[in-house]
Amino acid sequence: MTEPNAPDRLVLRRPDDWHVHLRDGAMLADVARHTARQFARAIVMPNLKPPVTTVAAAAAYRERIVAATGPGFTPLMTCYLHDGIAPDELVRGHGEGVFTAAKLYPAHATTNSAAGVTDVRHITAALEAMQRIGMPLLLHGEVTDHGTDIFDREAAFIDRVLIGLVRDFPALKIVFEHITTYEAVAFVEAGPATIAATITPHHLLINRNAMFEGGIRPHAYCLPVAKRETHRLALRRAATSGNPKFFLGTDSAPHAVGDKESACGCAGIFNAPFALESYARVFEEEGVLDRLQGFASEFGPDFYGLPRNADFITLERAASPVPARIAAAGTEVVPFHAGETLGWRFAG
Ligand code: NCD
Ligand code: ZN
Repeated sequence: MTEPNAPDRLVLRRPDDWHVHLRDGAMLADVARHTARQFARAIVMPNLKPPVTTVAAAAAYRERIVAATGPGFTPLMTCYLHDGIAPDELVRGHGEGVFTAAKLYPAHATTNSAAGVTDVRHITAALEAMQRIGMPLLLHGEVTDHGTDIFDREAAFIDRVLIGLVRDFPALKIVFEHITTYEAVAFVEAGPATIAATITPHHLLINRNAMFEGGIRPHAYCLPVAKRETHRLALRRAATSGNPKFFLGTDSAPHAVGDKESACGCAGIFNAPFALESYARVFEEEGVLDRLQGFASEFGPDFYGLPRNADFITLERAASPVPARIAAAGTEVVPFHAGETLGWRFAG
């Protein structure tokens, strides 16, 4: 039910996506425009094959993205951290305006993370350099040992890694990405101003039951994996609280339908085509549509120290049917909300 005085149009400062996978090649050509349609800028993940570890690779990737989206969209590039990363490469890339931030994937935590960091002690010099030049560290915050239950990996990361990072690098800006637990919410809320978090639409809308609804549901599988309902409710409270430490990052992560519907299906949810409609649903359900603009368009650039966008977009109250599949890279990708009808429509 719509509240009697709920608006039929929402005009928002144009949002940015502070965590997205745009892929490469034919997939890039077909998925990037969905992000560029709604967002002015996006923090682009570097987990390509091979990963984006150099200034040259990031500059070339940025050109391929701009060729795919056309003008009007600004990809903000990230460097994939690994045990052998040279601090000078980060400093030079940041200085040249190529690297906005650097991404820490614990080795083997997720898609294309095998070359990631095996122990944060191996990248101490890189983190010191980033702290000195004001370059944010983006975290995939999960431990990877097989003895730790997959549903506990984020909370364990806080205790085993993140507390030490915040203590040892007090001036380093840290984004705890795509958080999924109340432990993460509590840690970010209580932490210093140097730590913030992004929250995806799917973690606000599904709990872990979605992966087992009447059978195994590969399209609800992503990493970090959705947790139980208490965690989803904590994420909703955080995202809709108006606290500037929590802002938008979709983690849109397309995989060809055959790679998801497989004996070993890939992790990732493709939410870019209806991202704002999805977030608007959450803020409306929580009765705080007036807080969507802060979360989507203001807190992210403020944390990164970048200007807020100067133009505006409109969401209209109208039925938005989400297709079952979207053509991409000569195959199809199943979007988040496939087959559902959302109540808001992005009107440009
Ligand atoms: C991402 C991917 O497919 O690249 N998958 C996902 O489930 N989110 C990697 C990641 O961000 O963990
Ligand atoms: Zn991601």
